[in-house]
Amino acid sequence: MGMNQRHRYDILKEWLNHSKKTVVLTGAGMSTESGIPDFRSQSGWWKQIDPRTVATVEALEQNYSLFHAFYTRRIQALENCMPHEGHRILADWERKGLIDCVATQNVDGFHRVAGSKNVEELHGSIQTIRCQACGQSESLESFLNKESCTHCGGKLRPNVVLFGEVLPQDSWQHTIHHIQEAELVLVIGTSLEVYPVNQLPTMTKGKTVYINLEIPANVNYFDLTIEGKAKEVLQQVNEGLDV
Ligand code: OAD
Repeated sequence: MGMNQRHRYDILKEWLNHSKKTVVLTGAGMSTESGIPDFRSQSGWWKQIDPRTVATVEALEQNYSLFHAFYTRRIQALENCMPHEGHRILADWERKGLIDCVATQNVDGFHRVAGSKNVEELHGSIQTIRCQACGQSESLESFLNKESCTHCGGKLRPNVVLFGEVLPQDSWQHTIHHIQEAELVLVIGTSLEVYPVNQLPTMTKGKTVYINLEIPANVNYFDLTIEGKAKEVLQQVNEGLDV
């Protein structure tokens, strides 16, 4: 209580420097400073449209036009956006051995674009497309042109996880493994409202840090919270980090 921001940065710097295994978990708040809306903020996607009507298997099967229009907008929203300094700092920390892995709920692919290598995309990727019926890979262009699967005529969809679908099991298992061994888990830019990813911060024996624009009252189990913007906080913490 009452701990000032500078002191919080110093604690995080010290934990980062001493942790032998650090895992970062990110959400949509990691990418808002790149110009991509998040989901549950005032300007978020789910304030414009009910996720049940576009982000479920039922929507894909029964209301493909709306599904297609929504994901087309999501893909187009990325077109003129790029990773920001915060993404690059995380990639840099991985190269320097300060962090081991980034597990993300984001489908924008920005951690990899920024240079992170060990990335688990827990909610898949919006940049690649498959057929819902037979699984064949198709091009982003085919999806945007609202074409059907060239193999079976099925509906095309991005490789994102829809509500009601399971997470990519390899990524999920790898992430759990990393989290269980971590000495430090940094959670950045997520409301922690979505299961099962919101269980991850409670599965570690390590220290936990929550960096977010707002700290909800029900999120009270972190060892350290830093209220602020992802990019700004990462820049501050990166400054004078002794590695
Ligand atoms: P949310 O929109 O639920 O939460 C984003 C959080 O980031 C909010 O608490 C914001 O206050 C915070 N935030 C916004 N800008 C920020 C910034 N610049 N710096 C720090 N924090 C910031 O997004 P997620 O938690 O990622 O899933 O949502 C989880 C999942 O719900 C998404 O992956 C998506 C969605 O439905 C699927 O589509 C499967």
